[in-house]
Amino acid sequence: MLSLTNKRILLGITGGISAYKCAELVRLFIQAGSEVRVAMTDAAQEFITPLTLQALSGNHVFTNLVDVEAEAAMGHIELARWADVILIAPTTADFMAKITQGEANDIVSTLVLATQAPIAIAPAMNQVMWSSTATQKNLSELALRGIKIFGPGEGEQACGEIGLGRMLEPEELVKRSSELFELGLLAGKSIVITGGPTREAIDPVRYISNHSSGKMAYALAAEAAAEGAKVTLISGPVSLETPARVERINVESAEEMLERVMSLPTNIDIFIGVAAVADYRPAKFTDEKIKKSKENLDLKLIKNPDIISKVTELAIKPFAVGFAAETNSIVENGRQKLEEKNLDLLFANNAVETFNNDNITVTAIDHSSERQLGPANKSVVARQMIELISCTLKEGLME
Ligand code: PMT
Repeated sequence: MLSLTNKRILLGITGGISAYKCAELVRLFIQAGSEVRVAMTDAAQEFITPLTLQALSGNHVFTNLVDVEAEAAMGHIELARWADVILIAPTTADFMAKITQGEANDIVSTLVLATQAPIAIAPAMNQVMWSSTATQKNLSELALRGIKIFGPGEGEQACGEIGLGRMLEPEELVKRSSELFELGLLAGKSIVITGGPTREAIDPVRYISNHSSGKMAYALAAEAAAEGAKVTLISGPVSLETPARVERINVESAEEMLERVMSLPTNIDIFIGVAAVADYRPAKFTDEKIKKSKENLDLKLIKNPDIISKVTELAIKPFAVGFAAETNSIVENGRQKLEEKNLDLLFANNAVETFNNDNITVTAIDHSSERQLGPANKSVVARQMIELISCTLKEGLME
């Protein structure tokens, strides 16, 4: 089920007795790493409550086409665009007929019509209804349009008859859904990325910091998530939007960043230190604003902990990727940091050119070789970095 990590599943429920199994279905999708949103027809709500599905999915459940409150948060067109797949389970005979006709007079059929995502249906109905000419004709038409048909299964039916028409079990529906997606380069990997600057407080209104914008870290987080990784981004103060499917933890200082990194689960696969962590912080934080009384102000600075080195000292060391922002001897200094900090890979770049710029040129350095990436936009280079990391992770060295 690795390919379901970070996937957005829109579950449409129509009015069949097997709708009660959707509670388990939602649970299994979430367990597989997907985000789930649910839309229900009126008839579906006779079999399972929106509240149950809201509690399990952690998201508002869409029940009406015209729902002012729901539309304000996420409109139905936005929801149709949001989905990576729409699964209608169970799909009644009536609903099959409805979408064959292209009707859109309830929330679920409207989503089917409004989406460009793949659609899958899990038919569930009485066996005679399933084998009827009308249903079979609708089925052929839907299959011809590229709609995936999951099931139905055979066996005892709620009406007491035996035959084809049972909705596939939730485990099977999750498995079939996962087969719709290709595995990303980092499917199932857990990645922690630090990004942005840190701020080291002097007094309540002043701090020491640097010009890191977070652009490089955020581009990497977006690319890693797109490749199926579970990404946690520990970010210093920046004014960027959190990329889709990325969990972001905001921090201010280096000590706080270290604390958050160390409190994460120990089963991290990859750690990428992009953050421009301040190497020093004021030895003493002054509770009140320092007054401009003297001609000179002596500020004693003490060394901050080296976060990435603490990570590489862990008993279970993740694949560790560092960055080095240098102003001279970029590759030599970068290689020294690779060795000193016990990293697997390091991207060395020119500090003056890279900070707060949209573009970057880096030298990728491992223990035996070097390779230049860019100059290009940080998103383009982030994509190349993710390919390189995935490849090095699998094969040991860069080349
Ligand atoms: O944020 P942008 O504007 O997009 O700019 C990108 C960038 C210039 C910040 C990025 O490309 C970059 O080079 N990041 C590392 C910056 C840096 O300060 O490197 P360093 O040479 O000080 O540190 C080497 C490595 O150790 C880095 O992975 C750093 O995250 C890590 N480190 C450093 C100090 C410290 N106390 N703890 C650390 O973990």
